[in-house]
Amino acid sequence: MDALNRDTDLNYGQSRKYHIITYGCQMNENDSERLAGQLRGLGYSSTDQIEQADLILINTCCVRESAEKKIYGKIGELKRLKTVNPNLLIGVTGCLSQKDRDKIFTKAPHVDLVMGTHNVHQLTDLIKEISQSRDRVLAVWDQAERLAPDVPTVRKSQVSAWVPIMYGCNNFCTYCIVPYVRGRERSRPLADILAEVRQLGTEGFKEITLLGQNVNSYGKDGEETIDFADLLAAVDKVETIARIRYMTSHPRDMNAKVIAVIKHGQRICEHFHLPVQSGSDIVLQRMNRGYTTEYYRKLVEKIRSEIPHASITTDIIVGFPGETDELFMQTLDFVRSIRFDAAYTFLYSPRSGTPAATMPDQVPLAIKKQRLQQLMAVQNEISLAINEALIGQTVEVLVEGPSKNDPDKMMGRTRTNKIVLWNRGKEQIGQLISVRVLKAQTWLLKGEVAD
Ligand code: 5AD
Ligand code: SF4
Repeated sequence: MDALNRDTDLNYGQSRKYHIITYGCQMNENDSERLAGQLRGLGYSSTDQIEQADLILINTCCVRESAEKKIYGKIGELKRLKTVNPNLLIGVTGCLSQKDRDKIFTKAPHVDLVMGTHNVHQLTDLIKEISQSRDRVLAVWDQAERLAPDVPTVRKSQVSAWVPIMYGCNNFCTYCIVPYVRGRERSRPLADILAEVRQLGTEGFKEITLLGQNVNSYGKDGEETIDFADLLAAVDKVETIARIRYMTSHPRDMNAKVIAVIKHGQRICEHFHLPVQSGSDIVLQRMNRGYTTEYYRKLVEKIRSEIPHASITTDIIVGFPGETDELFMQTLDFVRSIRFDAAYTFLYSPRSGTPAATMPDQVPLAIKKQRLQQLMAVQNEISLAINEALIGQTVEVLVEGPSKNDPDKMMGRTRTNKIVLWNRGKEQIGQLISVRVLKAQTWLLKGEVAD
């Protein structure tokens, strides 16, 4: 590795500032909070102004090629800052580091640290190492330790906190890179999870989200004798927490026991995010999803019969290899008949090393884009109609803070995870308030405080 040419002592800490840019999913958001916690331990403080940072970390995602391109562009931009400040440290962490490893140094020689998904807890030591050796460092383990040690966390929100319950994924859906960059499933011990949730309650957090690539397989790796439903029931007993959420569920592993715990629980929110990915049985089979549309439909019926006011959202990929017009029409029909509250829709992106990337009959980009538009038009109409049906109702909202786009408005969410905006009043961040819905849009509700 090249020795870095720094003319001043890299005395980490002591009024030094860090800036973290996070791409990707909630697991990455949580990892960034654990990176921030370690930096604070070294004496760094955070800055929103990237030009003022002594250390920049880019926490990356590689789930789609579009994310990857954007990230390489961003890493390239940072070269300019390094020219201005040769003492600046630049680190690239997360899923893209895990996938591309040394390629990042080749493409971007101004990067000092490349750290994989299994190495997050090592940041403190790695910063010390770079500061002393002044060499670049690559820390990308192929496999995770069974469970990485806990590290301090600096949380972004004062209201809502992520709590990882398991890491990795064993599903190997044929389109997905996650099992290759996040490793096999490892469940976190129940005692550690409960201790963290209780601590968060004591600190004043109102909402927690249990995180994992596939939360419903909690405990299946044999380290715990309980399953996800038991875990939810245990967390539901922590009285200081007002709301419990969880991400992400695999429809195949969602079952009657979990639904019953949510129905009878006090704190678990009535929102089911169940990524269906396609409404065609042929495509689902090629994706290795392990369920049929009939199974999924019955699951939705079960949820709606047990918890009629539950919201159901999904993820859908269009243009998977071999998806013909006819198979895509099946997805459109499925979406029309299920009536999701919302759907996150994606163009299929071939990920090298995954089985789908080399499947025959890859769909041209123009067709993928056309299908995405069609799907979004159908879903938007449904989302709007479902939201319009809420006009006139009063909903319970957890106040998160000012709206990002309009500081005169406050933002919060319903238990069903719908975003609500209202004019700023006397309400406090973290408070549960009642809001009367006055207007509905596809992705949000607008209202007035009802009390
Ligand atoms: N191409 C497009 N979308 C993908 N997703 C995962 N892998 C890919 C891919 N290769 C989507 C899935 C998943 C969401 C997080 O990202 O819909 O549920
Ligand atoms: Fe992206 Fe997946 Fe990594 Fe999350 S786990 S950051 S979605 S590649």
